[in-house]
Amino acid sequence: MKQRKILVTQALPYANGGIHLGHMMEAIQTDIWVRLQKMRGHDCVFVCADDAHGTAIMLSAKKQGITPEQLIDAVNKQHQRDYADFLINFDNFHSTHSEENRQLSESIYKALDANGHINRRRIKQLFDPEKNLFLADRYITGSCPKCKAEGQYGDNCEACGSTYSPAELINPRSSISGATPIEKESEHFFFALPVFRDMLKDWTRSGTLQDAVANKLSEWLDDELQEWDISRDAPYFGFEIPGEEGKYFYVWLDAPIGYMASFKNLCDRSDYNFDEYWNPGQDTELYHFIGKDIINFHTLFWPAMLTSAGYRTPTAVFAHGFLTVDGTKMSKSRGTFINARTYLDHLNPEYLRYFLAAKLSNGIDDLDLNLEDFAQRVNSDLVGKVVNIASRCAGFIDKGFEGFLAEELDNTRLLTEIQSAKDEITKHFEQREYSKAIRMIMALADKANQYINDKQPWVIAKTDTQSAELQAICSSGINAFRLLICYLKPVLPAMAEQAEQFLAIEPLRWDDSDNLLRAHKINKFKPLMTRVESDKVQAMVNATQEEYLEQQQASAALKSKATDDSRCVAPEIDFEDFAKVDLRVAKIISAEQVEGAEKLLKLGLSLGEDELGNALTRTVFSGIKSAYQPEDLVGMLTVVVANLKPRKMKFGLSEGMILAAGPGGKDIWLLEPHRGAEAGMRIT
Ligand code: MSP
Ligand code: ZN
Repeated sequence: MKQRKILVTQALPYANGGIHLGHMMEAIQTDIWVRLQKMRGHDCVFVCADDAHGTAIMLSAKKQGITPEQLIDAVNKQHQRDYADFLINFDNFHSTHSEENRQLSESIYKALDANGHINRRRIKQLFDPEKNLFLADRYITGSCPKCKAEGQYGDNCEACGSTYSPAELINPRSSISGATPIEKESEHFFFALPVFRDMLKDWTRSGTLQDAVANKLSEWLDDELQEWDISRDAPYFGFEIPGEEGKYFYVWLDAPIGYMASFKNLCDRSDYNFDEYWNPGQDTELYHFIGKDIINFHTLFWPAMLTSAGYRTPTAVFAHGFLTVDGTKMSKSRGTFINARTYLDHLNPEYLRYFLAAKLSNGIDDLDLNLEDFAQRVNSDLVGKVVNIASRCAGFIDKGFEGFLAEELDNTRLLTEIQSAKDEITKHFEQREYSKAIRMIMALADKANQYINDKQPWVIAKTDTQSAELQAICSSGINAFRLLICYLKPVLPAMAEQAEQFLAIEPLRWDDSDNLLRAHKINKFKPLMTRVESDKVQAMVNATQEEYLEQQQASAALKSKATDDSRCVAPEIDFEDFAKVDLRVAKIISAEQVEGAEKLLKLGLSLGEDELGNALTRTVFSGIKSAYQPEDLVGMLTVVVANLKPRKMKFGLSEGMILAAGPGGKDIWLLEPHRGAEAGMRIT
């Protein structure tokens, strides 16, 4: 077999937030593919980095009162930990804010410029006169020019769906300062993408892309192709454009170059040769795994830039769909926007690796993580089928034969059948049809279990624990288990490693499934995987929801704490805005712990009576458990926002919000109205 030289990347996660299960799906898809290639003996390198530049990172550092460098360093460590704990086996994880990336970005830009592919012109954009920065569309809100819906973002209306330019918004506001933006002109740099129309038409049709992706692109290639704005004005967190003071590379210019930079960083401390992977006409392969939202960056701008700068283009770009949870887009308030770390706090990473593998195909359809299916699938396949094979056979081998497998196996037909599935399983993995590979593997596991059911080794063992037949049957079972583990190893590397210890064998390589274990001593069996417990899944969802509430409270606290202008300030409101808030005196009539919640108490509030004399009550969940005992709260008067839109939470409906002050922990104080106030009184 010829050894292939393959460079693989996954998209670079933004450095302004944590890794969530959507990101992790991409990492797992890529990692499985890379592990397969490595197991097959190919030279496959997997590099990644944080995408550290852009306005969002600059602003979020400012909000936290730290420098962007401090922010991205801290996040980089967290990201690497999260990936490592999900067993993502990067050969290098770097940052786009690195010296390698600066040099490569500058040299590529200079090449584009020298080739006449950079054009300069002045454009008008909205500008925040208080913060002195140009506003990207998502930092502008206002009323929709068509349907007048309030609070819409700069480029499209969520209420009526119309699209427009931010300058058309009625009453536009900067969401950073609350100021009214002004129009301002400045010079921008554009990459001459239309020059590459013919090159891209060929490239996108040359087998480099999935059909669905190529079809979508051909629409753009036929008309919409426009020059690409690659510059941003100061202040910006990124690389300054050489020779152009106050102008920075747009984050999406240097982000894909980050793939090269991460690889360059690896080359500088290994035997890998940068040019062998990036110069045209070499015998190496280059693959990018990405989500469907960033297709145009990878299949239009990127190959065009590479071509202009004299580098190779990717062998293929593999796009995937989005992860949804319980049938809908991940949502923080529903508890389904699950961070990688929150998952890890409660569940085994290999559960998710397996579940996703069992569902992934090579298309761009979305994939649903239904949490009930998840538990059910993992339990029935991994615990119920695969591990079961070993646990049913191992004890007899240990007790009757001092751990030795038989020389003569009982059912070689079963084993040959499992072995001869190898080529097809390989093909499915190679083509990213993981669900097909898993389906085949599980069908073989069913056959192995059926074989053991038929032979009933436990019946033989009742009369003779040292019978040759018993040894042969159990040795066949253990061999079937070993073959299946070999096939599952790209998906379940940790479980495979434990199985290797149990089997007392060297790390399995892909071709090891060609041979069998005979007259070989194995170790005592220890359970390789435990069942997914549904209360752990629920605890993960609860924790996600609590993180969300905490975050909201923290950002509200930050806003109220902001006295000097260096922090985020809540925009000034009119009296009419204030009058919309219905603040009432509330009496706490009940307070209880919430099962599974770390921060929340459930409060029953009385707001007096309505005009007809009916008692007015509200249920509110409040994150004050760290500061109050439920029994001390009952009878207290406090202040409630009575007309807050009710919010559905996993624990129940929360119908308002009580007001408290303080930094958190033990130091949270409920606001208490003065003596004499009564439940239900309006606060004005
Ligand atoms: N920084 C850019 C990528 C630059 S690549 C040169 C970016 N970052 S991201 O953090 O928003 O997304 C990183 C990857 O995660 C993207 O491929 C994106 O499609 C993927 N996903 C983000 N949310 C996702 C899901 N819910 N489901 C699956 N993948 C998702 O884009
Ligand atoms: Zn509208």
